[in-house]
Amino acid sequence: MGSPATVTIVADADALAETAARLVVETAREAVRRHGRFTIALAGGATPRETYARLAAPPWRARVAWDRTWVFFGDERAAPPDHPESNYRMAHDALLAHVPVPPDQVIRMRGEAEDTDAAAAEYARHLAAVFATRRGALPRLDLVLLGLGVDGHTASLFPGSPVLKEVFRPVAAVHAAAAAIPQRLTLTFPVLNAAARVVFLVAGAEKAKVVKAVLADQAPLPAALVRPDDGELVWLLDRAAAALLPGGGSR
Ligand code: 6PG
Repeated sequence: MGSPATVTIVADADALAETAARLVVETAREAVRRHGRFTIALAGGATPRETYARLAAPPWRARVAWDRTWVFFGDERAAPPDHPESNYRMAHDALLAHVPVPPDQVIRMRGEAEDTDAAAAEYARHLAAVFATRRGALPRLDLVLLGLGVDGHTASLFPGSPVLKEVFRPVAAVHAAAAAIPQRLTLTFPVLNAAARVVFLVAGAEKAKVVKAVLADQAPLPAALVRPDDGELVWLLDRAAAALLPGGGSR
């Protein structure tokens, strides 16, 4: 079981984006100092967009060794990279188009593939190649950014999904009936929990109930199962999302 989670509450979504950008920069500098590169898995959805925009602009842009950065994705919808619903497109438009990460160091999930199981296996092979992991070993990402759905999902790990029980494969194709685009690719708990640092970015009053369920009530929701075995877990919340935590919103 990993170290206890750090819960950081900031005033609003703007403060969350700024705090998250600073955290990414600090993690990147530490990773490059320690092992010469920085590997990150980006979250999809709407919340992280402002964080990505901050990273693409002064002062944060100049503080990341983008040429030593490897970008992965936590999950992807069954949509081509130029589709409005594509997580890759959101990250590309907000960040990747504006920073000099070498193109072969941005590893996109091919959510649009006909054979999503094959695409999941292909992504797993790509992870294994970048991390030079031996068969069965798991890649240890320096940083994984995650969001939180109101139903307690994170990445594309949805309540009731068989993929929640996946203990070997690092990447899986899932069918999330509740999602707007049900067919998805997702990193699985083994990879998330092998990371050196996982940061949830959660903002907005609509998330207050699920934040309480996960952090105060320990409800067995997918997001509650993200506990890095040998890494740091950070919940970065704005006051609105933390409002139902004991003493949360008032801090
Ligand atoms: C996705 C994300 C998903 C997201 C949550 C929160 O593909 O949608 O991986 O897990 O992080 O649904 O989304 P919002 O930030 O838009 O609330």
